[in-house]
Amino acid sequence: MKIIPISRPFLGDEEKDAVLAVLESGQLAQGPRVRQFEEAFAAMCGVQEAVAVSSGTGALMVALLAHGVGPGDEVITSPFTFAATANAVLFAGARPVFVDVSDADFNIDPSLIEAKLTPRTKALIPVHLFGHPCDMAAITALAERHHLAVIEDACQAHGAAVGERKVGSFGSGCFSFYATKNITTAEGGMITTNDPQLAERARIIRDHGQTARYRAETKGYNFRLTEIAAAIGLAQLARLPELNERRRANARYLSQHLQGVITPAERAGCYHVYHQYTVRVPSPRPDGSQARDTLSTRLERAGIQTAVHYPLAVHQQPYYRDLGYSDSLPVAERLSREVLSLPVHPALTPDDLERIVAAVNESPREA
Ligand SMILES: Cc1ncc(COP(=O)(O)O)c(C=O)c1O
Repeated sequence: MKIIPISRPFLGDEEKDAVLAVLESGQLAQGPRVRQFEEAFAAMCGVQEAVAVSSGTGALMVALLAHGVGPGDEVITSPFTFAATANAVLFAGARPVFVDVSDADFNIDPSLIEAKLTPRTKALIPVHLFGHPCDMAAITALAERHHLAVIEDACQAHGAAVGERKVGSFGSGCFSFYATKNITTAEGGMITTNDPQLAERARIIRDHGQTARYRAETKGYNFRLTEIAAAIGLAQLARLPELNERRRANARYLSQHLQGVITPAERAGCYHVYHQYTVRVPSPRPDGSQARDTLSTRLERAGIQTAVHYPLAVHQQPYYRDLGYSDSLPVAERLSREVLSLPVHPALTPDDLERIVAAVNESPREA
């Protein structure tokens, strides 16, 4: 039986040739290809500047430091995300404050943010989870009213947009090029911004706070990207529109044919890039995950890989519990028991899609 994987990088001769050209050039560490990748990525997002870094986590860290976020500050973010979002805030020395999400799009609920603001709140990190843009009109209006920085965690949302405006152009954008993402460099990240001074600070922090060779003027670290990664990134970026369209076509097929599960919604005017295609499988008992777990076991047996993004909300992670987080965030907690991601990646064949639909629709939904 052919296994249908939950994700698969989409690479071809262009990426292979680009890597070989770097190896032959002798310039492996950050150089001209990194600069070219930054320029091409900034153009894709419709922003003035992009700064390449070694991971999405690094992008978040550098963006936080470049915005001056540090000890004593609070940063509002989503509890329903990969822990990297909040971990970056902790590593910057600040405190993540979690605001519950909406089950319509899995993203932070802007109507709940104001209640969590304090005089220490310095920034908001909305996360465009699974490739669906957050409600950026509401979030940017609130941020302007309260003079807060907006750092978009767009690690799962390359090319996603609200109307004509790409994510990563509303505030400072942070992207990941981890191997499973919509485009990859194996590991890598990017910060996008329309603020040239912020970009300059990010470039300095990325390279040990150096403003000139061996002259450190601020706290920094090694967050540099390699030329090999940038060369792969340039080839991948050229494929991005097509890869996103394939994901969207796969998602459309699944949503048209799946039965017995709650399929993901796309808010009017949004361009969802389906980094994940995540359905909800509610259990008869609202505190249980049996229905979801039963379905995932059946799909695994049918050779279809699935994943749970995420089985615990961030504030429920043991480490965050140890830090004293005891919030009750009911929507995020319920979603963690209901969600199941199905394969949606661009390498799926029509036959794969039919198999996924048949396996889901044939599974009894009792728990
Ligand atoms: C929402 C989110 N934020 C941050 C990250 C961190 O990115 P990276 O793994 O490149 O450090 C990821 C990806 O893994 C992510 O999905």
